[in-house]
Amino acid sequence: MNKKLFIANWKMNKGLVQSQQFAEELKAHFEKHKGTTDEIVLCPPFTSLEAVHRKLNGTGVKLGAQNVYYESSGAYTGEISCGMLKSCGCEYVITGHSERRRYFNETNAIVNKKVLIALDEGLKPILCIGETLQEHDDKITEAVIDEQLTSCLLHVNIEDIPNVVIAYEPVWAIGTGKNATAHQAESVHNFTRKKLKKLYSEEISLNTRIIYGGSITPENAKELFAPQTINGGLVGGASLEVESFIEIINSAH
Ligand code: PGA
Repeated sequence: MNKKLFIANWKMNKGLVQSQQFAEELKAHFEKHKGTTDEIVLCPPFTSLEAVHRKLNGTGVKLGAQNVYYESSGAYTGEISCGMLKSCGCEYVITGHSERRRYFNETNAIVNKKVLIALDEGLKPILCIGETLQEHDDKITEAVIDEQLTSCLLHVNIEDIPNVVIAYEPVWAIGTGKNATAHQAESVHNFTRKKLKKLYSEEISLNTRIIYGGSITPENAKELFAPQTINGGLVGGASLEVESFIEIINSAH
């Protein structure tokens, strides 16, 4: 797995104009540098999805959403379905981000429903897992990861699991400027692979894409992406500028 996956999570940032500007700049960069060998996914806010999709046409850069609802349609005011995301050009969707868990009370059971409907309706879920600072200090990271994987992947069958990306995002590292060390991330990634082997098979455990997220910057990217088991990154703050996002991608090789 030499090809890495880099996902830009813009969170609640950038209106339509700024989103389009970013996509244009990124396109210009890739045209100048003859593309990239990695897989790149942008996750703008819902309101910019379609416009960014149009701007990215022909670049190979893919589109993802930051959230989705677990029903296909109906009276759910304010929610967005998988079908709607696909109609805007989405291929991926982030599920279970720690900010959704923390501010919107998303439980593992809710995340599981989102993962299942995404797979059912042809979107690739990016399943976020990770321990809080308290859990980290209490040294129960592996128990937390174990429970999150068991619950969030409930009823996800072996045929569908290749379409799931797992993002290990220690909650204490998100937006704090305090990244995990490559060694810490590597150890949780290895634990996750062991768990996938138990849940599925050795092949699945080796081939599932597991990426790291949490305060990735151009400065720490080289170290963070050195371990073979880390297949890419979910980048928040540093993905808001084309230059720093590109620097992160470039320093991973
Ligand atoms: P950050 O966010 O890079 O700003 O820490 C990562 C994320 O929340 O996905």
